Amino acid sequence: MKIAVIPGSFDPITNAHCDIISRATKIFDFVHVCVLTNVNKKTMFTSEQRVDMIQKVIDSMGISNCKATSYEGLLSEFTKKVSAVATIRGIRNISDYEAETAMADINFRLNNALETIILLSRPEFRAISSSVVREISAFGGDVSEFVPSIIVDDIKAHYNRKESFLP
Ligand code: PNS
Repeated sequence: MKIAVIPGSFDPITNAHCDIISRATKIFDFVHVCVLTNVNKKTMFTSEQRVDMIQKVIDSMGISNCKATSYEGLLSEFTKKVSAVATIRGIRNISDYEAETAMADINFRLNNALETIILLSRPEFRAISSSVVREISAFGGDVSEFVPSIIVDDIKAHYNRKESFLP
């Protein structure tokens, strides 16, 4: 059984992530979508909220060979724990490519049984990012074009509960 991990911050999951998940689950027997800590980012949603949203989306897409989870530690450790042979990342542009090659090199040093597989974002998803979704939401804008419909209300509710996300 070939197992892969799609790691990320998913703060929150977007349609671009969904496209990668859908494509990865057609290549691998089982895919773990794993919320990990990016030490360079402050997140808007808790790890638990992000896992819940991802699982809701996976279920709504009718994908059965995929599960959302979180891990507090290194991606290389998590991949060993679940016996994954590959980690999958989507890239949109040259800056993503540079960051991903650096990360792939480090992950390979930490777990040399691990392949990093890069999937190119489809053109229609290239401009979508979690940070764009957070910015639009912070200004009360509509993000329904950028995230799965099943989590639109979760995102709205989250932002409505807070007084202000702006400086
Ligand atoms: O969605 P992101 O923020 O680009 O995802 C980055 C993430 C979370 C996959 C990366 O920061 C990560 O792997 N964090 C876990 C810690 C780790 O393994 N770091 C070493 C890789 S250089």
